[in-house]
Amino acid sequence: MEPVIHVEGLCKDYRVGFWGRRVTVLRDLTLEVQAGETYGYLGPNGAGKSTTIKLLLGLIQFTAGSGQVLGCPIGNPISRRQIGFLPENPSFYEHLTGEEFLTYCGRLLGIPRGRLRDQVPALLDEVGLGRAARQQIRKFSKGMVQRLGLAQALLGDPKLLILDEPMSGLDPIGRKEVRDLILRQRAAGRTVFFSTHILPDVEMICDRVGILVGGRLVKSGPIHELLGEELESIEITVTSVPPAALSEVERLALSPALVQKGRVMFRLRGETELETALAILVGAKSRVLSVVPHRRSLEEIFLEATREVAP
Ligand SMILES: Nc1ncnc2c1ncn2[C@@H]1O[C@H](COP(=O)(O)OP(=O)(O)O)[C@@H](O)[C@H]1O
Ligand SMILES: [Mg+2]
Repeated sequence: MEPVIHVEGLCKDYRVGFWGRRVTVLRDLTLEVQAGETYGYLGPNGAGKSTTIKLLLGLIQFTAGSGQVLGCPIGNPISRRQIGFLPENPSFYEHLTGEEFLTYCGRLLGIPRGRLRDQVPALLDEVGLGRAARQQIRKFSKGMVQRLGLAQALLGDPKLLILDEPMSGLDPIGRKEVRDLILRQRAAGRTVFFSTHILPDVEMICDRVGILVGGRLVKSGPIHELLGEELESIEITVTSVPPAALSEVERLALSPALVQKGRVMFRLRGETELETALAILVGAKSRVLSVVPHRRSLEEIFLEATREVAP
């Protein structure tokens, strides 16, 4: 099956200032997003994420490279019909109500009024704005505007969703709602490409990620490969540990045991050590409260990638 997004060697220069000095904000970007995938496009502020998104949508011209979105050369307006787009920091006509705004967007898309009468309330419900449907947008909170933007992106049943920082400016509950909404899109078979600089959101919902730093894609791949299956350590917490067993397990551990209110926590290197430790502890009639494996977090990979590029 052909990828939904495929770009090769994409570059973007801007000319800035009176002398038209050339600055490169995107260098040699090559990436692919397959149908049905949720792709997280990560990078610090100013990395070039929004620039990439505008290039994919054909809102700005690229300097070099090539690419296709949904089988059309990038920049071709035909492909845009099947794309739902949430811009960064959306702002809409404030005098309209949520319902009026969506109906207006639907009409722009050429959806007949009759169909919009069903679709608009369903979409408002989907993004949790059902009760605010008749409120003017000027009375909306930032989170509500963001959700209305998402409803707008979902109009017309797009095959591909391109979301620029969908979680930015939202509180933890709002972020969870957007995360759940993206997961529902994936379940419905849609392809989602979204940018973010908020990491914890990504680990939970993406199939693949790319990390962009200073206009360069410095890492990309399936999230489980980037995070690695390899364990960093295993933490085990137990109670009722006789002193002999405690010192025996401590010898296997990476660091001295932490003892607090009768609970003991050991940090072990891997599964072999865990097996031995469990045998000792169970033999000593200790009670195991938890076993927690620690893997590399995306945050560590992100920081490492950013550091590698920094001068
Ligand atoms: N129209 C423009 N003219 C000149 N520079 C720009 C323009 N738009 C964006 N940039 C620069 O391109 C870089 C990448 O911006 P952007 O794609 O918005 O980053 P991100 O979305 O990752 O935060 C930034 O350094 C920004 O200042
Ligand atoms: Mg941006």
